[in-house]
Amino acid sequence: MANRKYIVGNWKMNGLRENLGDIADIAAIAAGHDGVDVGICTPATLIAAAVQANPGFAIGAQDCHFAESGAHTGCLSAAMLKEAGATYSILGHSERRADQQEGDTEIKGKAEAVHAAGMGAIICVGETEEERDACQAIEVVTVQLANSFPDGASADWLTIAYEPVWAIGTGRVPAASDVEEMHAAVRAKLGELMGHGSEEVRILYGGSMNGDNAAELLAVPNVDGGLVGGASLTAAKFGPIIEAASAA
Ligand code: PGA
Repeated sequence: MANRKYIVGNWKMNGLRENLGDIADIAAIAAGHDGVDVGICTPATLIAAAVQANPGFAIGAQDCHFAESGAHTGCLSAAMLKEAGATYSILGHSERRADQQEGDTEIKGKAEAVHAAGMGAIICVGETEEERDACQAIEVVTVQLANSFPDGASADWLTIAYEPVWAIGTGRVPAASDVEEMHAAVRAKLGELMGHGSEEVRILYGGSMNGDNAAELLAVPNVDGGLVGGASLTAAKFGPIIEAASAA
């Protein structure tokens, strides 16, 4: 049986209080499509206000430190994000892997930390263009998955996002056959890593998903939803993706 579709917006370093109306508009569209799970990962500064203004709509974070507390200037713990109202967090996004040098072991620790706080985790994996050109994409992604895979994983709280680095923010999207091949490989690796229950872990596709290509991407086997950056910033752009997931 197909998993319930999950569409998550990643606002990255975008959004001030003046943009909260967009979240309200998106939450209203989501409420009209109750066959799809929808959420927005706002900047941490907006989590509390977004949760307060949209009760019942799933607001997430974009990162979380692996430690419970301590001398980590500028970082946020799972307990802090949870107290602000986040119910899940993106972890190991390729922009953080590149800009903050995050590695798989650290990402594993972050996933375990958010789970310990009672939150969900979306772990991101994906190859660079050089790695794809060298026919290493599947090897790179499955090794990232294995090395960042949290202890005690279950579909109740863990989601994987496959995001080819070269497709993020570029308007380029892999061929459906390449997405299918990668998602099948991720599914198989999840089976190896966790056995029972691996089929229910949702695998999102991310990278230039928009209202024009969402239906095709969401029809690919083992694509259980999308992690959406640029096209999640307004209801006008994000709404059609929610609708495509509802129709998938
Ligand atoms: P994009 O970003 O949709 O703007 O390509 C996706 C992501 O980085 O999560």
